[in-house]
Amino acid sequence: MATIGFIGSGNLGSALARLVAIAGHDVVLSNSRGPETLGERLTRVGPRASAGTVADAAARGDLVVVSTPLRAYRSVPVAPLRGKVVIDTINFDPARDGDYPEITAGRQTASGVLQEHLPESFVVKAFSNMFFKHLATMGRPAGAPDRSTLPIAGDDAEAKRTVATLADEAGFDTLDAGPLAESRRFARGTPAFHAYLDPDGMFTAPGRPASTTALAKLLAAAN
Ligand SMILES: NC(=O)c1ccc[n+]([C@@H]2O[C@H](COP(=O)([O-])OP(=O)(O)OC[C@H]3O[C@@H](n4cnc5c(N)ncnc54)[C@H](OP(=O)(O)O)[C@@H]3O)[C@@H](O)[C@H]2O)c1
Repeated sequence: MATIGFIGSGNLGSALARLVAIAGHDVVLSNSRGPETLGERLTRVGPRASAGTVADAAARGDLVVVSTPLRAYRSVPVAPLRGKVVIDTINFDPARDGDYPEITAGRQTASGVLQEHLPESFVVKAFSNMFFKHLATMGRPAGAPDRSTLPIAGDDAEAKRTVATLADEAGFDTLDAGPLAESRRFARGTPAFHAYLDPDGMFTAPGRPASTTALAKLLAAAN
């Protein structure tokens, strides 16, 4: 079992932290305001969770999840993440993050921005296209007929295998969408971004499982 650090422990980060803690990993939560503000999140994630600073989460994590708005990426410490696998859940949202012309023009991805900031880390895009309430409820044991498949993308094959194992423990199959640049296929606004949303209820209805075959079609449909 490993220690997973979380830089950003909001809706998505804490939902994922709970899943990996249930799977038996220790987790270190952090946010922008300091560990003393994480009490409620700690309770929700459970006894395997502790709170720290961003520096603590980066240093203590064998693997580190970055789950902040994109505009916060410069706060992610570089040195303690050298050589580590970094899971990136970030979706670029211009209304929240401001203007990133390279992303808007399709020449860069949010993950690419983070990877440039962390040149000696192995960034893998994952857990970025499922609504946090669905992530919390849609995990299933391996082989279950209603188990969902999540896309992952990254430039390092071993790092992707590590993330696929973690996703499996959290209750999901994974489909390798290719290098990090291919994360554009499941970015905000793509067909795959809506893979698990019921069109009748969207964010209020339960999630709708998506198989590997269904997800592959959605990824292929991105421009
Ligand atoms: N919500 C979803 O269903 C969902 C699904 C998939 C992907 N995502 C993506 O995942 C990311 C997180 O989404 P969310 O919904 O969890 O957001 P959120 O609830 O607003 O949480 C954001 C977290 O990031 C932390 N943070 C912000 N700036 C920081 C900084 N400079 N240093 C350290 N931590 C910082 C916040 O800490 P403070 O509260 O202390 O500021 C908070 O813990 C976003 O990029 C989002 O697009 C979200």
